[in-house]
Amino acid sequence: MGLLSLIFLSGCFAGGNRTTWEYMPDMADSPALKAQKYEADLPHHRAMLTPPEGTIPRGYQPYAYKDDPEGAARELQNPLPRTEAVLLGGQKTFNIYCATCHGPKGLGDGSVVPPFPRPPSLQSDKVRTWSDGRIFHVITVGQNLMPSYASQLDPQQRWAVIQYMRALQLAENPSDANVEAYKTERRTSDIEHREKK
Ligand code: HEC
Repeated sequence: MGLLSLIFLSGCFAGGNRTTWEYMPDMADSPALKAQKYEADLPHHRAMLTPPEGTIPRGYQPYAYKDDPEGAARELQNPLPRTEAVLLGGQKTFNIYCATCHGPKGLGDGSVVPPFPRPPSLQSDKVRTWSDGRIFHVITVGQNLMPSYASQLDPQQRWAVIQYMRALQLAENPSDANVEAYKTERRTSDIEHREKK
């Protein structure tokens, strides 16, 4: 206790313009480095360190099929159910990121075409018979003129967009059963509508 009060009081006695005695000043004078400033004394001449090779951002999932579209087609499964919420999310993403080139129904008539070259139809037999994994591959790594959307859309958004593409394809190529189901649905909702009035 005696020692503590001595240290404490030494500040009071110093008074006037005299610099007070600093006890263990290391923390007070710690060097502050600016991340991007040139630092002559540091090994890499900057405070920022280069991340070790293979470092990935938190939450990032490495894509294992970069040069292997067939592997992606075979092994990747769409983890999302075709629910209304998923479809609405996919629709929003499609209309923002895909429709500009591919058009609102995927026919290749987006607003930037021309001057952008007309992309192939997403309603083709080819894309309709592609697995979800194969389409995921195109969105993830791109294909020729089409850029990768991996940095704009996380995997969940990519899978949701594929569910919405499937809904667009179904709407353009309904089976007889689909048409019947639609008519019944319409009739029922018409009746419900009338009954409510
Ligand atoms: C900048 C314009 C552009 C945008 C935006 C775009 N695409 Fe494409 N897409 C293309 C072009 C061009 C091709 C054809 C590439 C080629 O020649 O192989 C293509 C090809 C594809 C194919 C393969 C079709 C085939 O027959 O090979 C799929 C699937 C596809 N796009 C889906 C999407 C989806 C889903 C999105 C939104 C996430 C999207 N595209 C956004 C331009 C675009």
